[in-house]
Amino acid sequence: MRIDIITVLPELLESPFSHSIMKRAKDKGLLEVYTHNLRDYTPYKQAQVDDYQFGGGAGMVMMPEPLALAIEHLQKERKYDEIIYMTPDGPLFEQKTANSLSMKKNLIIICGHYKGIDDRIREHFVTMEISIGDYVLSGGELAAAVVVDAVGRLLPGVLNDETSALFDSFQDGMLAPPVYTRPADFRGWKIPDILLCGDPKKIDDWRYEQSLKRTEQRRPGLLDE
Ligand code: ADE
Repeated sequence: MRIDIITVLPELLESPFSHSIMKRAKDKGLLEVYTHNLRDYTPYKQAQVDDYQFGGGAGMVMMPEPLALAIEHLQKERKYDEIIYMTPDGPLFEQKTANSLSMKKNLIIICGHYKGIDDRIREHFVTMEISIGDYVLSGGELAAAVVVDAVGRLLPGVLNDETSALFDSFQDGMLAPPVYTRPADFRGWKIPDILLCGDPKKIDDWRYEQSLKRTEQRRPGLLDE
């Protein structure tokens, strides 16, 4: 999978994909992430990419032309499955969104800043919008990093048995059960006996019950879905 990210702050995206599982995905050639500085595509003086909004009001808006030129430049090289705009007024990002994006080949992600991007770009280029939660970040970069991470780890071959996504929270519509590691007795706090019983069926059943209990207590809405 290839992901092209259009941003005014490429520096912000240097670190998130250079470590741990994202690094492994890139090293194995399963995920390619490229950042493109929007300022390289502006025809305006002083690398301007934003301007005052028509109709007045506080806050700048990202101009349509640099964005259109950046997108069209990328589209000349390959076909994109989705052109995604990160925005707090988009549909909420969920595990099922990550699952379906992980099956795509080429994605563009546009990171907004200031008041957002000129709406004509949303109307004529953007095919999908994503919010990572009901709060406003100072830009779309961290939100884009969240999406790339959640999608990248699902690509076949990225995770191994130890890190498998199959039993993640949300993957089956429920939260994951509690987990424990050594020592079995830490400061007198003991792990549940059943985890030492050696019977995989019993342990699976216990984990299922714990998942259900956690989901009922913490996120009952997930069970209605
Ligand atoms: N840009 C600013 N806030 C955001 C959010 N919550 N989700 C996605 N992009 C954003």
